[in-house]
Amino acid sequence: MRMVDLIEKKRDGKELTKEEIQFIIKGYTNGEIPDYQMSAFAMAIYFQGMTEAERAELTMAMVHSGETIDLSAIEGIKVDKHSTGGVGDTTTLVLGPLVASVGVPVAKMSGRGLGHTGGTIDKLESIPGFHVEIDKDEFIRLVNENKIAVIGQTGNLTPADKKLYALRDVTGTVNSIPLIASSIMSKKIAAGADAIVLDVKTGAGAFMKKLVDSKELANAMVKIGNAVGRKTMAVISDMSQPLGRAIGNALEVQEAIDTLKGEGPEDLQELCLTLGSYMVYLAKKANSLEEARENLEKSIQSGKALEAFKTFIQAQGGDPSVVDDPMKLPQAKYTFELEAKEDGYVAEIVADSVGTAAMWLGAGRATKESTIDLAVGLVLNKKIGDEVKKGESLVTIYSNQEDIEEVKQKLYESIAISKEKVERPTLIYETITE
Ligand code: URA
Ligand code: CA
Repeated sequence: MRMVDLIEKKRDGKELTKEEIQFIIKGYTNGEIPDYQMSAFAMAIYFQGMTEAERAELTMAMVHSGETIDLSAIEGIKVDKHSTGGVGDTTTLVLGPLVASVGVPVAKMSGRGLGHTGGTIDKLESIPGFHVEIDKDEFIRLVNENKIAVIGQTGNLTPADKKLYALRDVTGTVNSIPLIASSIMSKKIAAGADAIVLDVKTGAGAFMKKLVDSKELANAMVKIGNAVGRKTMAVISDMSQPLGRAIGNALEVQEAIDTLKGEGPEDLQELCLTLGSYMVYLAKKANSLEEARENLEKSIQSGKALEAFKTFIQAQGGDPSVVDDPMKLPQAKYTFELEAKEDGYVAEIVADSVGTAAMWLGAGRATKESTIDLAVGLVLNKKIGDEVKKGESLVTIYSNQEDIEEVKQKLYESIAISKEKVERPTLIYETITE
């Protein structure tokens, strides 16, 4: 086989075979196929697309380009959740303990964040003593015992995706549905998921800003998952404004605790119950989505979900008393209120730039080397559709620096107030089950 022939074949819109796709991914991973040929190939996919069969083969070829995690020692169906990103998305922190509390095994491998706020691990590390440096045997033992554990990223998973993603980033080929869908799905499958629940974000703060594109991506991923034997479902949810109210590491832990008590922000609670019921259903811990949701609601009401969070924290060296006494979480030195300059209704909260403001406070990393301040961040006191009076607080700013003029400026630019009444945005646009 020659790479040039395969580039031409895709350029001309023909379907590649399994062997051809495997040849390309293997050759690219081990360096036999150079970047310039792979760039041309990615561009050919960008314009010609890929058939469903090709997408599934590409995904599995990337899965097999490196190590895979074997979770077979964990009892039950391992369901993983993936969100296509957003700002202040606290769902993972809530969903882990929530679904674990009804018996779904949560074996989560997680990373540190780049951008607005930290990743799940950074957030959890704001709990004093909590750590993810556990070995694989301990990880498996903890999931079997408590139904939940989180471990840092280990192993050389999907090296083909790492290399290809970096190449796409500089060749104008990121925005291709088959390439995005196979990239995301390969990582989930390599990490050991038997079933996958996808939260595909849509709106101004999302990777996919238009609903039609988000739908197409969600459909593509659901098809890939089911084609390769991993039951997959997707929810398309709103990211026209940040989810929940908190943006910042310790602040999001606090928000997760509130939500596990049933006292969290309405949108976060609703999305967690929806995604959670899919996870419970796919793990076969309920016979229907309705039953799954009822079980989750009961677990919140009875305190079982909160108890699961405490057990999880304790098992990984953390101080579980933060759950009852959140003042034990890192606290910022100063708080400031962003006061509304006029009466009206909140019409827009641009998630991206609110995220940037949180990063400027130190809540996120601008580069991989930046250090992160776990205490700082933002709490939105108003969301789209809320009425606001001049002088009322739109946002509470938690900061360790006294001079926050730039942050305030950025926030004023991110939040639009309208004289006319504004509708609340839809939270869940669609669910895709197959
Ligand atoms: N996220 C990924 O992991 N891969 C893509 O290709 C795009 C977004
Ligand atoms: Ca949040």
